[in-house]
Amino acid sequence: MRDAARRMGAPRTPQDEAKEATGRRAADMVVDGMRVGLGTGSTVHWTIVALGERRPDIVCTATSVQTHELATSLGLRVVTPDEIGGLDIAIDGADEVDPRFNLTKGGGAAHTREKIVAAMTDRFVVVVDESKLVPALGPFGTPLEVLDFAPGTVAAAVERLGSGPVTTRDRRTDNGNLVMDAHFPALEDPPAMAAALAAIPGIVEHGIFPGSMVERVIVAGTDGVRELVNDRR
Ligand code: 5RP
Repeated sequence: MRDAARRMGAPRTPQDEAKEATGRRAADMVVDGMRVGLGTGSTVHWTIVALGERRPDIVCTATSVQTHELATSLGLRVVTPDEIGGLDIAIDGADEVDPRFNLTKGGGAAHTREKIVAAMTDRFVVVVDESKLVPALGPFGTPLEVLDFAPGTVAAAVERLGSGPVTTRDRRTDNGNLVMDAHFPALEDPPAMAAALAAIPGIVEHGIFPGSMVERVIVAGTDGVRELVNDRR
């Protein structure tokens, strides 16, 4: 909706400014010779734009068709995860970040590819505006990529874990699967819920990223940009 409004000439909001600031800050971490994972969304968009402006000598892999198209249109070299083999850094947005660096991702339905790419590096850097910092994961919902074979059975299993009625989005993932959202009360133990969801047959991937995956979160707000480094890893 916001993107549609922007296309119609609406002025940029402070949140839009923050997204650009944090996205561009992360691009400063990328230097010549790096293999770079590029996330998906309106915040990491600005990382990709900044890299396209500077054109360091890097090779990238992309977490969605949208990101692949943007990066290649800006002259960045993009190959598959298998071709790149490993990553020096991956940069991506998030929908929620809790105080232990646990993330909700998948607002853009790209969380399966995003998780594969994030797991390819020890340096997973998350770019968010202040609104994404939450005391506990949950209010956004928990995105699920689900095989289109028995979605009702999968949803019932998720609801037995404590979710309210699981909803289905009116779109599919880049992998051709369904996108569903669980609606849990505040998650006290996101890694435990991540493991429980991963054990349900038919869930291709869920949008909980344990804090152990995250090196740092770059946060932008009205006071500027700051970095939260995860020293618990
Ligand atoms: C896509 C994602 C995005 O990183 C997340 O939705 C944040 O997006 P944005 O930067 O547009 O707020 O997980 O699947």
